[in-house]
Amino acid sequence: MMAKETSIFKSVANLLGHAESGVALTREDIITLLKLPGNYTSALFAAADRVRKEQVGDEILLRGIIEFSNICERNCLYCGLRKGNTKLSRYRMSEDEILATAQGIKKACINTVVLQSGEDSFYNACSICRLIERIRRETDLVITLSIGERNYDDYKSFKQAGANRYLLKHEITNTAIYKYLRPGCKWEDRIRCLIWIKELGFETGTGNMVGLPGQAVEVLADDLLFMKQLDADMLGIGPFIAHLDTPLAGIGNGDLDLTLRVLAVSRLITRNVNIPATTALAALHPQGRLRALQAGANVIMPDFTPEIYRSLYDIYPGRKDVGSATKIIGQLEKEIHSIGKTINYSIGQRQISKSV
Ligand code: 5AD
Ligand code: SF4
Repeated sequence: MMAKETSIFKSVANLLGHAESGVALTREDIITLLKLPGNYTSALFAAADRVRKEQVGDEILLRGIIEFSNICERNCLYCGLRKGNTKLSRYRMSEDEILATAQGIKKACINTVVLQSGEDSFYNACSICRLIERIRRETDLVITLSIGERNYDDYKSFKQAGANRYLLKHEITNTAIYKYLRPGCKWEDRIRCLIWIKELGFETGTGNMVGLPGQAVEVLADDLLFMKQLDADMLGIGPFIAHLDTPLAGIGNGDLDLTLRVLAVSRLITRNVNIPATTALAALHPQGRLRALQAGANVIMPDFTPEIYRSLYDIYPGRKDVGSATKIIGQLEKEIHSIGKTINYSIGQRQISKSV
């Protein structure tokens, strides 16, 4: 090795050693890790993988997801469900259909359900609460909601009805880019929702997309610091994937390697949170999901949405989960075993930290 290369190696090794042992990283440290020369990324992923093993173990947690409505009143520039996309056929599942699907999740021995939809006010607080109560009573599944921004009283009633967890990705920390990408929405409003959700005692999930227009590495570092500061219990980190029927058609997709770096750094700084290998990573690259599971991720969210609706939940192109839920789980098991891991069918709550 040349002298200069040796000194870079030493400082990267030093930084990774600190990060792995749980020393808080500065914004500059995070930027350095996100910009590491390519030949150092495997060391970053390996460090995140060791922290994942130490903090949450080797088993992969499963959450069954039901995308129960693709109707959305928002117009996010990046998303295929935006209301301005008139090419998409829209659907809403009935309460009975959702219940039957939740029973299927229970039958597959998965103990948590994620109920996800566009921002669809057709399902008012009352109907969501009735749904939560029925799912709790008839299946006993742990319930995660992912239905966007609501008012405080709605969140409170969801909690009282028996919902346990809430996912609301902050998407991007830069307020100007946020405003541009989500017309009519304010970053401050989203953060207020996240604070309410946390205060109400939900296990709280947030996260971002990687590769949005204007999202420099510095913004990604702020995204990561925000995840840490919120003390989220779950993080969803996925690449942006351009959808043809949106204003961002033709913009390049997020980069696989950069998304994995963001994910790996999120594991290093947040330690024991639950981090899925997102569906968007699987859509971007055939090895995306497995590589995420080897760079810090410990959760997979198989899609149980009935097949007649699944392709209509067209947030971004290339979604891979096709066939029956049983087939999807079978394939996942194979993938997971191929990297020497097993599935854990428990509810998979965030664990008490083992260090720092
Ligand atoms: N590419 C990747 N992820 C997307 N999302 C929305 N549009 C896209 C896209 N084009 C993500 C957002 C949102 C979640 C439902 O899907 O992060 O929170
Ligand atoms: Fe609607 Fe969410 Fe898509 Fe925005 S990202 S258009 S809120 S489904």
